[in-house]
Amino acid sequence: MRETAYPPPPPLVREPLALGGISIPSRFFLSPLAGYTSLAFRLAVRECGGLGLASTDLVNARSLIEQRAKAFDLAETCAEDRPITIQIYGHVGEEMERAARQVVELGASIVDINMGCPVKKVVKTGGGSALMCQADAATALVERVVRAVDVPVTVKMRLGWDDQSLTAPGLARAFEQVGVAGVIIHGRTREQGFRGTVNREGIRAVVEAVERIPVVGNGDIRTLDDAEATFRETGCAAISIGRGALGNPFIFRQLAHWAEHGDPGPDPSFDERVNVMERHFHDLVARRGARLACFQFRKIIKWYNHLIRPPKAFYHRLINLETVARFDETVAMIRAEGPSAPLPGHFEPRIPVPTGPIDKW
Ligand SMILES: Cc1cc2nc3c(=O)[nH]c(=O)nc-3n(C[C@H](O)[C@H](O)[C@H](O)COP(=O)(O)O)c2cc1C
Repeated sequence: MRETAYPPPPPLVREPLALGGISIPSRFFLSPLAGYTSLAFRLAVRECGGLGLASTDLVNARSLIEQRAKAFDLAETCAEDRPITIQIYGHVGEEMERAARQVVELGASIVDINMGCPVKKVVKTGGGSALMCQADAATALVERVVRAVDVPVTVKMRLGWDDQSLTAPGLARAFEQVGVAGVIIHGRTREQGFRGTVNREGIRAVVEAVERIPVVGNGDIRTLDDAEATFRETGCAAISIGRGALGNPFIFRQLAHWAEHGDPGPDPSFDERVNVMERHFHDLVARRGARLACFQFRKIIKWYNHLIRPPKAFYHRLINLETVARFDETVAMIRAEGPSAPLPGHFEPRIPVPTGPIDKW
């Protein structure tokens, strides 16, 4: 806990929230992070508490239709993983419609359409943020998906392609008219990639453009102060957190405590932090097998390093992880030894994002 006062939560955060007909337990959502927001991670975050809604990584609509194993791995969910958004991307109406029906069968509480992805592989096919440049086609696509399924449909997008083309407010209004239940806005343009700061005024313009659907504000929320500023400056109904949750899976619980009591509550204990990592890893092993879990965890371990601060030698054992036994042995040592430095209560995680000229992504 810090010495200075926390900003007061807006009264709205204690009110119930619904997206379409679905009741959402809190106004703090987990954003999709391709390569990270696996079912194992989502379940670990849910166990920490406070989460309103989680999303899968983006799933290629065509890959779902072609029954590709990778697409089903990405869309995997289970009864404890509720409410869940399954996010799909593509630009062909018929494919998106079929994929949407498929993900509902797989358990999606909500179907989300990706219109924010800036990566070349996605936009060159006309999907992701490229859709934001074609209002009529994008609206027709959204309408098709809305009509295809009986669960709520949302759209996650950026502010527009670039500063000269801030199409999000107009699109959000058009999507509302064809029946979307909410929009999630990452306050950057496609041109910006992940550079610069989030434009909260841009998110506000979307809030003002729609009539009644909830707008979810997203981008660079890592602390309670960021969360409060996002609510206050944008007027959004909920917030969504991506990278901040990797460094601090307890952020939703801290936000939920803040919503009720005005502060984030006690920092998670060392044991709680180690427990989340352990659960995340063992769940990955159970779902993906030891080899893939060890491999994936080498990348994920960085975030737990911020959270747990194990002695360096143990961290290095985990970066080079090869077996489940090695993981268990190292975790037992970490528990016995305790943290090597004071544990952070707040985090500034840095996660690798695509860099360099945007056309090369
Ligand atoms: C590694 C990485 C993967 C991402 N994958 C997705 C994705 O699959 N779908 C999507 O809509 N956004 C994706 N995003 C964007 C995030 O959901 C979010 O909008 C963005 O990171 C800003 O929020 P944050 O600052 O809280 O991370 C990704 C971002 C990163 C850094």
